[in-house]
Amino acid sequence: MRKKIVAGNWKMNKTFDEGVQLVKEIIELYSKEVTSQVYVVLAPPFIHLYKLQPLLFGMPMLELGAQNCSNMPNGAYTGEISAAMLKSVGCDYVIIGHSERRAYFNETNDWLAKKVDIALANLMQPIYCVGETLEERNNGKFYEVIESQLRDALFHLPEEQMRHVVVAYEPVWAIGTGQTATSAQAQEMHAFIRKIIADKYGDELSENISILYGGSVKPDNAKELFEQPDIDGGLIGGAALQARSFIDIVKGIK
Ligand code: PGA
Repeated sequence: MRKKIVAGNWKMNKTFDEGVQLVKEIIELYSKEVTSQVYVVLAPPFIHLYKLQPLLFGMPMLELGAQNCSNMPNGAYTGEISAAMLKSVGCDYVIIGHSERRAYFNETNDWLAKKVDIALANLMQPIYCVGETLEERNNGKFYEVIESQLRDALFHLPEEQMRHVVVAYEPVWAIGTGQTATSAQAQEMHAFIRKIIADKYGDELSENISILYGGSVKPDNAKELFEQPDIDGGLIGGAALQARSFIDIVKGIK
């Protein structure tokens, strides 16, 4: 059975003290209110990770993720953070290929393939992001774009590694814009992604991969999105910065 996951991507927000406060509030609301079997992944800025880890002791469904990692194992790469370092502070997930990394830091599919490899080699689950721009949606190229993002960064993986990948579909035009994809648009793309994976790896593997939706998910649209048969949770940006809205989204999972 595939895992239901709601991940909060804090991006470049929250000072250290604000981050600790947010995690404490999330733990409190989660403990009181969340009854479903959903994994909640918190992806704060790197420097928060080490100190947040002990706060999550005894909370097996709350896990830590990073927002990025280097594609190199170690060495003279000033300013980079390696996958091994992230694992050593308790990260179980790492977001790879977020559209902001692709757009502002020129990360290509080939480059991202190396990050996926290094995350898996360090026993972390990559949350690999795909998504089309508004222009690509309007010119009808969006299926091709998503297919090549999947193929070029993931399809070199052997089956036993592919099983540990989480895919996040995040249409770029929906991120931070308040304009979410309709649940029908999202379901259509998720079904397409699952089919592309099935064509390469077979139905059994594809049926067990978690595919998250991201892009302006809010408490009032989460439930309808999460009810779609191929949507296994969400990658949440803006609404993950407040415990109340984040937990209300988590509660959208049955
Ligand atoms: P958003 O961001 O929820 O603020 O649209 C989602 C994301 O970038 O992962």
